Amino acid sequence: MAYLIKVWDLPTRLFHWALVLLMLGAVLSVLVFENMVWHANCGYALAALWLFRLLWGVVGGHWSRFAQMLFTWRQYLNYLRQPSSWTLPGHNPLGSLSVFAMLLFIGLQIVSGMASDDDAGFSGPLAALLSNTWVAKATLYHAEIGKWVLLFLVALHLLAITYHERIHQRRLVKPMFNGFQWQPLEAPASQDRWRHRLLGLLVCAVCALMVYLGLQLAQGFTWQ
Ligand code: HEM
Ligand code: HEM
Repeated sequence: MAYLIKVWDLPTRLFHWALVLLMLGAVLSVLVFENMVWHANCGYALAALWLFRLLWGVVGGHWSRFAQMLFTWRQYLNYLRQPSSWTLPGHNPLGSLSVFAMLLFIGLQIVSGMASDDDAGFSGPLAALLSNTWVAKATLYHAEIGKWVLLFLVALHLLAITYHERIHQRRLVKPMFNGFQWQPLEAPASQDRWRHRLLGLLVCAVCALMVYLGLQLAQGFTWQ
């Protein structure tokens, strides 16, 4: 007997695939097309998306909440000893750690980018507010450290998913598209009605507005 459970609500799924596209956009725009305006625009959209995920971790569907992604030491140890015995939907203990790490380093990449200067006429909106030493430090982190950390985390993410799909025959990618996951035991489903989705849209709009106002504020300070 297996149960089909709604694990990822629509806002979480849209968040994930928008994150993938915008990360790709941020990397291609600077490394392939050398277009810093598009690079920055991808970065600002990522900033709104990042804020959205933080809030969605509090008010989102059951399995998207950060409360479901915190585990005890015993649960980490049990999972490490026998990953195949994990029967709950959502992120497993190691998966949760990798999600927190990705969110942390994506956040650092966004903030350091906003304080970076490419020495070719483009600088992030926070650069004018900081001393040259801090801009140099932020640029070094952004261009030489953060990008490699993120590349490593994304590679690990894809390897882990391939491992679960191939070795444990656990379907993870399809649920990130349609939201549903087969589970061996009954478990609560994530809310995903239209009212809940509208809340997601509202939270997303508030986050976009916060980024927009933040950028206006930073520019205002630059003019003084
Ligand atoms: C730039 C590349 C990527 C980044 C930064 C990224 C980041 C993330 C993040 C932050 C989550 C947590 C989702 C949440 O709880 O809100 C996640 C989950 C997930 N991602 Fe990605 N992802 C990337 C690429 C991909 C790709 C290409 C695939 C598919 C092949 C994929 C498949 C998944 C799956 C299946 C999950 C759910 C894992 C689980 O069930 O625990 N990701 N990803
Ligand atoms: C998660 C979002 C971001 C990612 C993944 C990202 C990634 C990158 C990458 C891969 C580079 C090229 C480094 C190299 O030369 O090898 C770069 C450079 C740069 N990025 Fe970002 N970036 C992000 C956000 C931002 C934001 C929001 C801004 C500013 C608005 C920004 C400003 C810059 C600048 C000024 C450079 C040039 C640094 C230099 O020439 O040394 N980035 N970024």
